[in-house]
Amino acid sequence: MIIRPRRLRKTESIRNLICETKLTPSMLVYPIFVREGKNIIEDIPAMPGQKRYSPDNLNLILDRVNKNKIGGVLLFGIPDENKKDEIGSASWDENGPVQQAIKFIKREYPEIIIFADVCLCEYTNHGHCGVINKFNHEIENDPTLEFLTRSAVSYAQAGADVVAPSDMMDGHTKAIREGLDKNNFYNTLICSYAVKYASGFYGPFREAAGSAPSFGDRKTYQMDIRNSREALREAFLDVEEGADIIIIKPGISYLDILKTVREKILIPIASYQVSGEYSMIKAAGLKGWIDEKKIISETAISIARAGADIIITYFANELAELIHEGGL
Ligand code: PBG
Repeated sequence: MIIRPRRLRKTESIRNLICETKLTPSMLVYPIFVREGKNIIEDIPAMPGQKRYSPDNLNLILDRVNKNKIGGVLLFGIPDENKKDEIGSASWDENGPVQQAIKFIKREYPEIIIFADVCLCEYTNHGHCGVINKFNHEIENDPTLEFLTRSAVSYAQAGADVVAPSDMMDGHTKAIREGLDKNNFYNTLICSYAVKYASGFYGPFREAAGSAPSFGDRKTYQMDIRNSREALREAFLDVEEGADIIIIKPGISYLDILKTVREKILIPIASYQVSGEYSMIKAAGLKGWIDEKKIISETAISIARAGADIIITYFANELAELIHEGGL
């Protein structure tokens, strides 16, 4: 007997029936930049189509997110320049842009799961993700943990469902879990960026959030792009420290890492298709060099196929709309 796999590809309905990877809007998380102030909606030049919103203007984007039944949003705060200091204290201001945004979303869009990114780089005057030793200019891991915990607790207080520490300090998940529990936020989830590489793909984000380091780079705390076993070690540590979900980042250039970690880790994994990936696809799409919609779907499907349960992507709305229209 001759086996004929082609029979299974004959019609679209058969292909849809048997396909191994299915995308749903509920598995998508949409990152949003929240700027301090009122009545602001600003373009981000390096990320065409993405904008910064003040908390009172978030409905301009959330109506679409809500209608598309996207699982959640991931909030990044952009404080006024004069609020930045050595330790990023604006990140735990109860009236900070992210805290205001969380309260607004909880009240107006209770269905949307709120992830609050926890990091100091948007709030420090030096743009690093941790505090700096005055003498040798190194990023100080352990002293940073207290500040990260303060901002995570502050986001939980405002009503965040999930806190997502992206700083890459060792021990951050444990410190934040203890801080949350001490303040009775037992049910606040931690979605830890466990596997985050020191990547060139974050360039447009740093422009969007004004968070580029003023000296040096992030290679002492983010991961070496040449390493893969290290990803497993980082993932195991965060699971042990109490992470509920882990993030692997960036997305499409790191599918090997995603697949390796997926095979060994039992908790949900999110893959983050980051700003540089978005901007490359967008730029080629705007030039007419690629079919943008096809590439948006294909990259998302590749990420899901490699084993992601959750995809964090600036294309969440486009993807959800494609899914609803039956094009995916
Ligand atoms: C903050 C943070 C960054 C991103 C997410 N959280 C930037 C960085 O590490 O420099 C990047 C996200 C993106 O590029 O879309 N530490």
